[in-house]
Amino acid sequence: MRYLFFVILLGISMNSYGETTFKTFVKDVFNRSAELYGMDCCNYFNDIGKRLTDEITLKANDCVLDLATGTGAALLPLAKRERGASFIGIDICVNMVKRAILASDALSLTNVRFQLMDAENLEFADESFDVVTCSLGLFFFPEIEKALSEIYRVLKPSGTFVISLFDKPDQEHTMLALSIAKELGAIEEDEAIPLDEDKADCYMLSAGFTKLRSTPYVAQQKFPCPSTFIESFYGHGLRHVLDQLSEDGVLALKNKLIARIGPGPILEYYPVIYLSYRK
Ligand SMILES: C[S@@+](CC[C@H](N)C(=O)[O-])C[C@H]1O[C@@H](n2cnc3c(N)ncnc32)[C@H](O)[C@@H]1O
Repeated sequence: MRYLFFVILLGISMNSYGETTFKTFVKDVFNRSAELYGMDCCNYFNDIGKRLTDEITLKANDCVLDLATGTGAALLPLAKRERGASFIGIDICVNMVKRAILASDALSLTNVRFQLMDAENLEFADESFDVVTCSLGLFFFPEIEKALSEIYRVLKPSGTFVISLFDKPDQEHTMLALSIAKELGAIEEDEAIPLDEDKADCYMLSAGFTKLRSTPYVAQQKFPCPSTFIESFYGHGLRHVLDQLSEDGVLALKNKLIARIGPGPILEYYPVIYLSYRK
């Protein structure tokens, strides 16, 4: 069961990984991409995170937990909007947590703290939170049922859980780049089935949640040329594809992409779906 879903945008499946190894792999990739994550090269993550906050209504004194918080793309705009509520962001990558703390300090937020923590082993008491959020993180958890049972445990009765997932259609240029990377031997598989709404619903219902709503959204980012598009992979989970290639290999990837689509700007669309559930 736990190996059923594949991780889109990593270009790999968990079939060939044990849970610990896969988790270590994910941690390593995001620790290395943290410096560039959400910066100009891939700022669509911030847009997707900020848009998630539209799905959330809070009362004064509510407590919010953001899982796989990264640099705080979803948590920070919400904490800025809701000064009366308190927020905790957790992530498994120390470099992400460091960046989130810096960003929070830069905004002088006093209602936020961050902790290094695995979403599958939450170090919080039962019924601690009114809202739990997780933007673009759920598909990285090898034992999704374990994470969901932890989320259920730490939510107060009738608390809400809001997530975002990548959605169909696939990201056109990203998928093309991945198929070229496969030709170049950087990855073994290019078949990538995301954790979609139906699968997420199944997991959530099994964990005891009730579905509230789903809201589609399409983020986008314009890249000046195919080279900058490929280089943007250094700032997120696809970094590992470039790290498998030599300098010449990365150049070959860029040139092959240019040969397929030309040297001009790339407009990439990132369809996502926001899903809300109630305990
Ligand atoms: C695509 S990023 C999303 C970050 C942020 N939520 C956002 O919307 O920009 C995925 C994040 O999941 C984190 N992550 C992966 N597995 C995790 C786990 N088991 N527990 C906590 N965080 C995890 C990674 O470190 C990374 O920061």
